[in-house]
Amino acid sequence: MRAMDAGIAPTDAARALLAFWRAAGVDMDEAEAIFTGSAPARAPSAPVREALRPPAAPRLKRPTPSPDAPVETARALAAAAKTIPELQAAVEKFDGCALKATARNTAFSDGIVGAPVLLLGEAPGKDEDEQGKPFVGRSGQLLDRMLAQIGLSRQSNLLISNTIYWRPPGNRDPTQGEIVACFPFVERLIELSQPKLLLLTGKAAAHTVLKREDGVMKLRGRRLLYNPEGLPAPVNAMVMLHPAYLLRQPQQKRLAWMDLLAAETWLKELGVDLSAHS
Ligand code: URA
Repeated sequence: MRAMDAGIAPTDAARALLAFWRAAGVDMDEAEAIFTGSAPARAPSAPVREALRPPAAPRLKRPTPSPDAPVETARALAAAAKTIPELQAAVEKFDGCALKATARNTAFSDGIVGAPVLLLGEAPGKDEDEQGKPFVGRSGQLLDRMLAQIGLSRQSNLLISNTIYWRPPGNRDPTQGEIVACFPFVERLIELSQPKLLLLTGKAAAHTVLKREDGVMKLRGRRLLYNPEGLPAPVNAMVMLHPAYLLRQPQQKRLAWMDLLAAETWLKELGVDLSAHS
């Protein structure tokens, strides 16, 4: 605000100061005009403002992290894998699922590469995390005994994997983000395995793979198809009760037995000779 605008009259001392500087040879016209209110106060001219302003920091173009980034990485890694061992190596290299940071091991698969039956569960538990293999704990041992009843074993004609490869802390349910991040590897495993029959144990595997919301009691034992876009041929699929559920509800083993018999009949009709893979 100018002195005159504020209603302050130039003092004699100020006038004397102006006169002093003028006498000393300094051009005081502008200062006097502003002081006396005869010229509008001006903001410093553009070059002055530029000189006062600190040089602009160079703008760093930081890539905005996309929520899809881990999925895209998983898709690229999975697509590049041409064999199941290559896919396993890709999963072990993948850092896009936060569960890896708290897990001891990656539990990718166990059994026979090229087996006619591929079985998928949900996620590793404590024993699987320790050994780096799916279904090796109590529920895995029950699963082995059940499958042996129809001639299936991971030593001869079965490949076992999960829809999540790292143990969720405290065996909590995997989050949607964790499921989605691992799913490109699950899809690629099915594609590379080309199983005659895909067995899905439990609700989580059934929902993740089949993209259906029906309850497991509705899905179990039925002849279903896994047929996503881009797959060369649909894959026969059957949902089974999860062995961990059967440990808690042993009276439901009767249903599991019916599902196993349904799977056995279907394999026979498909012409799969399980003994040929022993
Ligand atoms: N439950 C699963 O679904 N998978 C395992 O590997 C172990 C327990």
